[in-house]
Amino acid sequence: MSETFTITVEPLEREVECGSDQAILDACLRAGVWLPHACTHGTCGTCKLQVLEGDIEHNDSSDFALLEFERTEGKALICVATPNSDVTVEADVEAEVGVTHYPVSDYVGTVVQIEDVARETRRILIDLDREMAFNPGQYVTVEVPGTDETRTYSMANPPGEPGRIELQIRRTPGGLATDGWVFKNLAEGDSIPLSGPFGRFFLRAARPEPMILIGGGTGLAPLKSIVRHVLEQGLDQRLYLYQGARAQADLYDVEFFRALAEQHPAQFTYRPCLSDEEWDGPTGMVTDVVAADFETCRQHTAYLCGPPPMVEAALKTLMKKRLFPKDIYREDFFDASDKATGGVRSPLLGT
Ligand SMILES: Cc1cc2nc3c(=O)[nH]c(=O)nc-3n(C[C@H](O)[C@H](O)[C@H](O)COP(=O)(O)OP(=O)(O)OC[C@H]3O[C@@H](n4cnc5c(N)ncnc54)[C@H](O)[C@@H]3O)c2cc1C
Ligand code: FES
Repeated sequence: MSETFTITVEPLEREVECGSDQAILDACLRAGVWLPHACTHGTCGTCKLQVLEGDIEHNDSSDFALLEFERTEGKALICVATPNSDVTVEADVEAEVGVTHYPVSDYVGTVVQIEDVARETRRILIDLDREMAFNPGQYVTVEVPGTDETRTYSMANPPGEPGRIELQIRRTPGGLATDGWVFKNLAEGDSIPLSGPFGRFFLRAARPEPMILIGGGTGLAPLKSIVRHVLEQGLDQRLYLYQGARAQADLYDVEFFRALAEQHPAQFTYRPCLSDEEWDGPTGMVTDVVAADFETCRQHTAYLCGPPPMVEAALKTLMKKRLFPKDIYREDFFDASDKATGGVRSPLLGT
């Protein structure tokens, strides 16, 4: 039977109730105590903090994201760690100007549309049982039917459409959620329990710099949310969107973004890039196209999203072009293989 413990978060002096089978981060986010996190699956290390008092279970923490000596020192990945007693943790939370954090909650979604938009890629529209407040770029976790596993998918809709979420999902061969469910037997009308909003990859609307957005594959999803939010809310940020794909069969939403670029020529530039196929648009790795377009990236911000190797390559390109890590926001689409093999992002990066 689940017991309830008290989590004290220092130096915030906040106390949160947490079940013995509940992740400490989950309890905090639901209580409106926002703490840094990214993958919520014990893979990336973003949520690592110090346990000052009490006893915890590390559960499914990756051995690569939480090293043996860190466990001995009392560090924990609170997105998967659960309490065995009352616990006090020390969090390192920087308040960001102009950022509102919305509490995590559970929702029941109903699938209203499933569309094959590109090779191995589906757009899923889901009506929620009530509106979800979130920041553009954040994600939801969905329960995979018949398992006790969850998977994370970024919302491609802007917060201005809070009752219907758009997910863009790419099939992973042999993947539990994609191959075994979304691309197999998910159907319109199906009910999906989900939770959100999660993540710290979201628009920093208070930052005035022009934004370079680079998405690989379905890494486009949160960038679509950000672009739509900026343009539909009439914010005055300059946007450069780069969409990386192998071939035209992998590109989607091209006409949508071309139309937006025509409507907002002075504010929005759209550059779809193909790495493996000649066409009438930019050809080459998306990072090379960005490097050719910008003599310097100083005085910009960047939002990178997609497979971890692409995100890492884009980061290096931008840093060579004089952009600092503090100006780069990233969302690595880690999966179970990254957890098993250590696809952990650089701990030196604060974003
Ligand atoms: C913050 C975030 C947001 C994301 N948003 C999106 C999105 O918007 N769209 C999207 O398409 N994806 C997104 N992802 C990725 C998504 O969450 C899933 O990881 C992806 O869909 C694969 O899930 P799966 O269950 O199909 O595959 P999994 O079953 O998780 O398998 C993934 C891969 O790992 C391998 N594998 C499984 N177990 C092991 C093991 N023990 N050892 C070694 N290898 C193993 C499998 O063979 C497979 O190749 C996001 C990820 C993160 C972290
Ligand atoms: S958020 Fe906890 S390890 Fe990624």
